[in-house]
Amino acid sequence: MSNTAALDWLEEAWRQAGAKTLRNGARIGSNFPHASQGGVYVCEEPHWWTAGFWPGMLWLFYRENGEETLRRLAEACEERLDDVLREYTKLDHDLGFMWTLTSVASYKITGNAESRRRALQAANYLAGRFNLKGRFIRAWNPWSAGQDNAGIAIIDCAMNVPLLFWATAESGDPRYRHIAEAHLDTVLERFVRSDGSVYHIVRFDPLTGDFVEGIGGQGYAPESAWSRGTAWALYGLTLGYHHAGKPAYLDAAKRVAHFFLANLPEDRVPHWDFRLPPEVTKYRDSSAGACAASGLLLLAEKVGRTEAELYRGAAIRMLESLYRNYGAWDDPNEEGLILHGTSHYPEGKNVDVPLIYGDYFFVEGLSRLRGNDTIFWQ
Ligand code: GLY
Repeated sequence: MSNTAALDWLEEAWRQAGAKTLRNGARIGSNFPHASQGGVYVCEEPHWWTAGFWPGMLWLFYRENGEETLRRLAEACEERLDDVLREYTKLDHDLGFMWTLTSVASYKITGNAESRRRALQAANYLAGRFNLKGRFIRAWNPWSAGQDNAGIAIIDCAMNVPLLFWATAESGDPRYRHIAEAHLDTVLERFVRSDGSVYHIVRFDPLTGDFVEGIGGQGYAPESAWSRGTAWALYGLTLGYHHAGKPAYLDAAKRVAHFFLANLPEDRVPHWDFRLPPEVTKYRDSSAGACAASGLLLLAEKVGRTEAELYRGAAIRMLESLYRNYGAWDDPNEEGLILHGTSHYPEGKNVDVPLIYGDYFFVEGLSRLRGNDTIFWQ
């Protein structure tokens, strides 16, 4: 099957996803959906890490379809995040997810100067979380009394550092990029294993910067392979190469991609962890598949023709499977676009449900395939 033939479904997928998003907009408005329960997206407080995905998706559709309603909703979401920036105490490493898909997106599409200011402010807060000794961006804050996570870094943050690359490009100040590269160098050194699988969490000594341990986090176990974390690494390192041009990031992204692709089941949509013992239910995590697919499409642009066909072909097959086998297109009682995501299996949260980041990355992948070059992380 050639890649061209495999795209027959693309315009219909784009149309269905767009129609559903427009319908969802009437109910969700400028709120912040995370996981769909019983067919209805449950919305979170604006400080939750997922706040950028709904407005990001609105921007992707507005950018190509021009629906003013969607632009207004995306701008209203961005304005609601101002309280979070002002309050400051609830902000953590996820500033990149939140302001790349709101303010950077808005600035790239509309040139809004206020969006630029917000994104630069968010980048400064993100840069301020850098641990100089350990060369990592700190994850989280002490959310409860006595919680000690000053030395914690997580693989998800590979997707936050594009905000720092953007800040350097926008301001001309290289310090943001220095921090982004130092963090990604630590990802190569401490998170990516030789087989291309990754740790979700790594603990360092926050005073000396010494490596302490790898932790399972949202994966099954410390030495297992959480599929969404693998997707964050695949896409984040590819974006790192896109911005910094360091061959080591490209090599690592390819290693992670090969591990991801080699461990996919028949329908090309990953289980929530690639290394599960037989007694644990192998729920899918469609969001990991959607994120990896968009990352693979970028990876395909960074390599020679033969390799590019491998990555692009794999991404197309994943997106087509998500569309055909996981899409809730015919169900008017389901707000989620893509079924069967798993947010946090170890804590039993949002297992086997649509997730807003699965929907977002699915739409981003379609948008890439349709030739849209305004991708907010780039
Ligand atoms: N911690 C972000 C995620 O669930 O991927």
